[in-house]
Amino acid sequence: MGSGAGARYGAEEKGREKSMNNHYDEERLKQSIRELLKKRKAILLAHNYQRDEIQEIADITGDSLGLSQAAAQTDAEVIVFCGVHFMAESATILSPDKTVLLPRIEAGCPMADMVTVKALEKKKEEHPDAVVVCYVNSSAAIKAHSDICCTSANSVKVVNSIPNGRPILLIPDTNLGRYVASQTRKEIILWPGFCPTHHRLKVEMVQRAKAEHPQAEFVAHPECTPEVLKLADYICSTSGMYKYARASEAREIIVGTELGILYRLRKENPDKQFYEPWEDMICPNMKLTTLEDVVYALESMVHIITVPEDIRLKARKALDRMLEIPRDY
Ligand code: 13P
Ligand code: SF4
Repeated sequence: MGSGAGARYGAEEKGREKSMNNHYDEERLKQSIRELLKKRKAILLAHNYQRDEIQEIADITGDSLGLSQAAAQTDAEVIVFCGVHFMAESATILSPDKTVLLPRIEAGCPMADMVTVKALEKKKEEHPDAVVVCYVNSSAAIKAHSDICCTSANSVKVVNSIPNGRPILLIPDTNLGRYVASQTRKEIILWPGFCPTHHRLKVEMVQRAKAEHPQAEFVAHPECTPEVLKLADYICSTSGMYKYARASEAREIIVGTELGILYRLRKENPDKQFYEPWEDMICPNMKLTTLEDVVYALESMVHIITVPEDIRLKARKALDRMLEIPRDY
């Protein structure tokens, strides 16, 4: 064997060894998580954008609100929320008697941070008769200052449930606001927030993907820009995408949302092909949580997400008003 081939062989061996070690590490970590979950009487929730290995070990995967609702119905004493901060807060709001852990405390949502209570109160003064509809991607404090919440799955229904005659201030996502405005006859006041991950998806990227896969349908999350949504065959929440993929006759689907969604889409539909229009469609916050973080969170019972009771009760009201309206999937 020549030295070039020898070096290559050595590198391949090392690579194989490393991936086998990683595999054993991953299995060991998953086993620790299973044992710790039992010991703590805990349930592990993972949002649809989490890393594959986190989704794989989760008791429940789903969208932000669906996860909190599901958790509230279990008899678990501890909820480990693999997602971002506002989601863990929603779980605390809906399950005040459970301990909610967010394994990475810095996992936030930049869009949720694009509205502050001060700025919202100022806007409310400018529009004193407006009904404030708050996307669940927002802090508990913002929910507490809102009239009703909505999710990407039910935003149009929520807005349509509001009696005519009053304008609607929809916070914080301007793209969701524009999408809802296009689907209703209500007057919508927009807020200039956006999801950096979805906002960066450009028309040219979708067009390129469509040219590469001419038979494919394109589904998009309403956090995408109106220009991108115009190209979509179907617009829906992450939960809606699973349902759509199962029901669609299409064998190929281009998915306009964070690429964590591919894990379950591919698993549930092995006979279909799924493509991302752009390989960088990643939410860095959603990718922070690792298996090691989950082990640590359960061992050390960190980081506990609390919401002051006065804020929790007001935020709960806004969530409850929404929950009375059936969801679209
Ligand atoms: P879903 O509620 O549709 O899962 O969306 C959550 C989210 O963070 C989208 O960016
Ligand atoms: Fe926030 Fe966008 Fe990440 Fe969702 S994908 S958590 S909206 S930054």
